Amino acid sequence: MCYAIPGKVISLDAKLVYLDYFGKTRKAANPGRILLSIGEYVYAQGGIIVDTIRKEEAEQILKFWKRRFTELKKKDRDLTKNLWKEKQTNRISRKEIINFLSFEKKEEITNICKMANKLRLKNISNASCVHGIIEFSNYCINDCAYCGIRKSNAKIYRYRMTIEEISSLAEYAVKKLNFRALVLQSGEDFYYSDDDLLSLVRSIRDKCGVLLFMSIGERSFECYKKLFNAGAYGALIRFETSNEFLYSKLRPGKKFSDRINLIKKLKEFGFVVATGFLIGLPDQTIENIANDILLMRSLKPDMVSFGPLIPHPETPLASVKKISPEELLKTIATIRIAIPQSHIAVTTAMETIIENGKRHCLMAGANSIMISLTPSEYKNKYELYPNKFGDNLSTKENIVQSLKLLYELGRAPTDLVS
Ligand code: 5AD
Repeated sequence: MCYAIPGKVISLDAKLVYLDYFGKTRKAANPGRILLSIGEYVYAQGGIIVDTIRKEEAEQILKFWKRRFTELKKKDRDLTKNLWKEKQTNRISRKEIINFLSFEKKEEITNICKMANKLRLKNISNASCVHGIIEFSNYCINDCAYCGIRKSNAKIYRYRMTIEEISSLAEYAVKKLNFRALVLQSGEDFYYSDDDLLSLVRSIRDKCGVLLFMSIGERSFECYKKLFNAGAYGALIRFETSNEFLYSKLRPGKKFSDRINLIKKLKEFGFVVATGFLIGLPDQTIENIANDILLMRSLKPDMVSFGPLIPHPETPLASVKKISPEELLKTIATIRIAIPQSHIAVTTAMETIIENGKRHCLMAGANSIMISLTPSEYKNKYELYPNKFGDNLSTKENIVQSLKLLYELGRAPTDLVS
């Protein structure tokens, strides 16, 4: 299993490193100032160099992948052939987005999903980033109306992993399971001081080369900058909804502008940013979702992370009706059409509401997947919503099934666009 393809350094300038991948050149940043020379091999994730790799090992991996890439791409093209006629869709308007989101007939929805999949192939080929996620604490100071780990839910068992536990698990995920991108997620939990998080990032980065996404909610920008400088180059932070009124109702005491400003600053600073929103919120209209998509497009995320609300019985939204699989697939397809070059993650909530969710979402325009690495004793306690997909699946089973599916669909488990 391999979640990153080695690139060969072909030139360097003050800002960027130019890498060769099977004859194609890609640029990467080197914020960690890893010492590099021409001809050396590196791992880059999300456009950021995270590690070097020995020449012999790199050449062996590349030899394997060269053949594999050709086979996978052929499979992907075959599966995408004869799909619905593609429209000229660059930067579709709000009106067109609303039109797509209003589709209700089965045939219309099937057609936009096919069109989205074709656009996915055209714009980002068969690249499918595989991210591992470690949910390290379910304590949270917030009381979000949608979230099962909100502070006033007295019924869930709270847990926190120690810095050592998280760090060893991350090391295992990189060295033994070959992950090259990991999300470290928790409720907004200030039990971990900024310095604790810094030492966590340093300890992981001292041991291994990996793109770390922090998904820890709102911390100061100063804290995020320190985390970046320690080696966590990614941030996963959703804006949840673009509707300020809805936002303040759902997230008591929190300000929409604080969230958006933080996301913008992180992006500007150079973070690899994953962001998105929730669909299926009470009182959310199609126009609201169109605005969510437009806001997301304007934020230029490196990864789209959105998902359906799954009502949790211990929250004020307990009785909200869950959205249908068709509504979800239609939204994925619309996002792909609105932002053709985006990386769209199949999130766990998507897999929870659709059977064989990974497959359906990947065939509707999504291209990346997340695999939970949270230890089994904690997994079902990280209960943002009930019956989370994967809670009964071991990490290894999840990896095996996910890779099998990617290969079946002709997708390469790497963020390489070639
Ligand atoms: N259903 C689906 N997603 C949820 N999240 C929180 N609660 C729920 C729920 N009940 C999402 C939020 C948050 C992410 C970590 O989980 O969008 O940003």
